[in-house]
Amino acid sequence: SPDRRVKLVEVGPRDGLQNEKRPISLATKLDLIDRLAKTGLTSIEAGSFVSPKWVPQMDNSSEILQHLLQTPPSSPHPLTFSFLAPNLKGLTNAFTILSQHPNRFASEDAAPTPDKPALEIAVFAAATESFSRKNLNCDIATSLARFREVIQAAKDTHALRVRAYISVVLGCPFEGYDVDPHRVAQVATELLEMGADEIALGDTTGMGTAPRTKELLNCLSAAGVRNEDVAMHFHDTYGQALVNTAVALEHGIRTFDCSVGGLGGCPYSPGATGNVATEDVVYFMETLGMDTGVDLDAVVDVGDWITKEIGKENASTVGKAVLGA
Ligand code: HMG
Ligand code: MG
Repeated sequence: SPDRRVKLVEVGPRDGLQNEKRPISLATKLDLIDRLAKTGLTSIEAGSFVSPKWVPQMDNSSEILQHLLQTPPSSPHPLTFSFLAPNLKGLTNAFTILSQHPNRFASEDAAPTPDKPALEIAVFAAATESFSRKNLNCDIATSLARFREVIQAAKDTHALRVRAYISVVLGCPFEGYDVDPHRVAQVATELLEMGADEIALGDTTGMGTAPRTKELLNCLSAAGVRNEDVAMHFHDTYGQALVNTAVALEHGIRTFDCSVGGLGGCPYSPGATGNVATEDVVYFMETLGMDTGVDLDAVVDVGDWITKEIGKENASTVGKAVLGA
């Protein structure tokens, strides 16, 4: 039934890899995206058009986008690929590739097909001034003014869907637990007014707890933000990601970000570990009778493969249990 349906957004190729110090080859990144697309995952964050001086690992995002348009992964389902773009410079770099491959992607008003993926641009704001400065080198108001231009251009030029992250919504590496949920609601409302299609609430530091997740979501609902416009982006640093996921599900949220093998960590959030593992979320949803459309064994295999490939420990509890069984 539609109420059982949960959408997972796989962020491993972007959030999972962006912080890796050793360069990961283009071939490995494309292989990862290809393997993920075969597990039943339909939304994959594939790269990031940010400054290579800031995040060198994402430097080949143009090539990734180009490849996905030229040779989309074979998948039984239509796919959506998203790319981060914090400013017009990043968006222009993405547009350069798009204009070389017109008619190779489905725009917002046309449904994607297996050989014509949908594309999505993601902007990323913060809930605290100190995180905004560290991550974007500007204050929140300046970042929002830039995102307004990015959202408008993404829609006007290529009719792209736009997701808007808000980082550190449940805890900030610089301001601690003291993040104001009303400020989060304010930023979310502004981004929606600018035309963002979805707000992804980032618990960047994993400091979120069940009661504070509930308080935040109540605050957003009270401000008029609709559950269907919200995605949760949990990091599992304190092991609370699935508890917080349960709270969000109960509240009515049906979109969740996750990263295969639990890969990841934000470069501007010291000590941050990976996103909640895709394997763990898929397993958890299955125990609740929710439908993710993702094949657990297949995604466990991808987690096993990519963690070995890049020499990281597999951070998925479920992945390790299934592989050890
Ligand atoms: P800046 O230095 O203030 O920008 O950086 P600027 O406009 O002054 O430009 C400086 C130089 O950067 C110029 O080059 C620009 O052309 C270049 P130069 O003239 O010196 O050779 N530049 C760019 N190059 C490529 N792509 C661009 C771009 N923009 C400027 N888009 C900027 C501002 C935002 C660009 C910079 O701070 C940046 O790239 N930051 C990266 C932040 C980032 O990627 N963070 C990680 C992703 S967010 C995240 O992980 C959180 C999330 O997962 C949710 C959660 O968990 O909370 C989403
Ligand atoms: Mg993140």
